[in-house]
Amino acid sequence: MDSLWFSDICGHHVSPFTMLDFDQSCHRKHGFSLENKLVFGRLYKQALTIARVVSPSQLAIVPSPDKEPVDPDQNHVAWTSVKQERWEGELVVQGEIPLWLKGTYLRNGPGLWHIEDYNFRHLFDGYATLVKLHFEDGRLIAGHRQIESEAYKAAKKNKKICFREFSEVPKHENFMAYVGDLSKLLSGSSLTDNANTGVVKLGDGRVVCLTETQKGSLVIDPNSLETLGRFEYSDSLGGLIHSAHPIVTDAEFLTLLPDLLKPGYLVVRMEPGTNERKVIGRVNCSGGAAPGWVHSFPVTQHYVVVPEMPLRYCAQNLLRAEPTPLYKFQWHPQSKAYLHVMCKASGKVVTSVEVPLFVTFHFINAYEEEDEDGRVTSIIADCCEHHADTSILDQLRLKNLRFFKGEDVLPDASLIS
Ligand SMILES: [Fe+2]
Repeated sequence: MDSLWFSDICGHHVSPFTMLDFDQSCHRKHGFSLENKLVFGRLYKQALTIARVVSPSQLAIVPSPDKEPVDPDQNHVAWTSVKQERWEGELVVQGEIPLWLKGTYLRNGPGLWHIEDYNFRHLFDGYATLVKLHFEDGRLIAGHRQIESEAYKAAKKNKKICFREFSEVPKHENFMAYVGDLSKLLSGSSLTDNANTGVVKLGDGRVVCLTETQKGSLVIDPNSLETLGRFEYSDSLGGLIHSAHPIVTDAEFLTLLPDLLKPGYLVVRMEPGTNERKVIGRVNCSGGAAPGWVHSFPVTQHYVVVPEMPLRYCAQNLLRAEPTPLYKFQWHPQSKAYLHVMCKASGKVVTSVEVPLFVTFHFINAYEEEDEDGRVTSIIADCCEHHADTSILDQLRLKNLRFFKGEDVLPDASLIS
């Protein structure tokens, strides 16, 4: 299929029908991001005015078995659960879609924030909804479908949370059940596979939805949006987590595997057509007893930049039954902050620099600057930075978002390079 593909870079922050922005991780020099941003930016304004229309030949509606609980605090549709597990139909568009535009735009994100009458607390906990917009012959076909992770299926079957989500932990009937859950945490079997963070198309055409747990790598059909099964990594690198936003091109899949036992990160690469990640190199942490959270990371043509934030993974918080203000993490300003630069070809860390304390979810863009002889003189990496204020994590509780009254109450962030 000749398609347009965009990866999710902010799937955490908005519900599926509002996630109509762009893959900003593409390198500026490739021109891909800017070109598509301009094209899609015009459509975006139109898409906001689209409405569902009845298209009997194409509708595939499966009524939701549950009625969403009424919450008087909910005042924004972005934070309400999807009403149906699955829907597809043609949308009415104001204006015109260019006839040359043909392709499918995929996004995922949290879309269901309750099971039965239990409402989740945090934005990141929502069970994943996969959304598509298919452009062809001036028409726009949209659809969404729940991603059938083990966590989602178990919750639907048992009418309760059964896996450890971002902030939610299964309620245990007794102490022994809690101990059993802890033992399963060590093996990773109790961790969620709720792939609500990103969608990538591998160089071999497979489309994979992702989250921060490695087991939450799920292969989907980009046409039917069906969940086809788990993407099984065939290597023996182990570990339970990885960056939620790998950098994926037609030639490679690059990601970071944080090492919680020996604080550091493995930088790994996977070629199209394989399920085997190979180690490019390793970065040891410069500060702290645990690696910093790596939700995303920047890559340039020749280098991988490994960010070491003072917001670090925390084993104690992983074990807790109730969330802390920083959830699975802890803030260690005394451990300082660093950026490590690894050569993709050699795997060697060419430099590690201390930088001001920072908090970011998403790196946006990265590229190299060269002198007139073609030698790399600098690496530019942009990110959305929250002024080293970790409160953004707790501010993304649904209760806070649903109380939105038109005033921006979230902590400020800015673009830094
Ligand atoms: Fe994200």
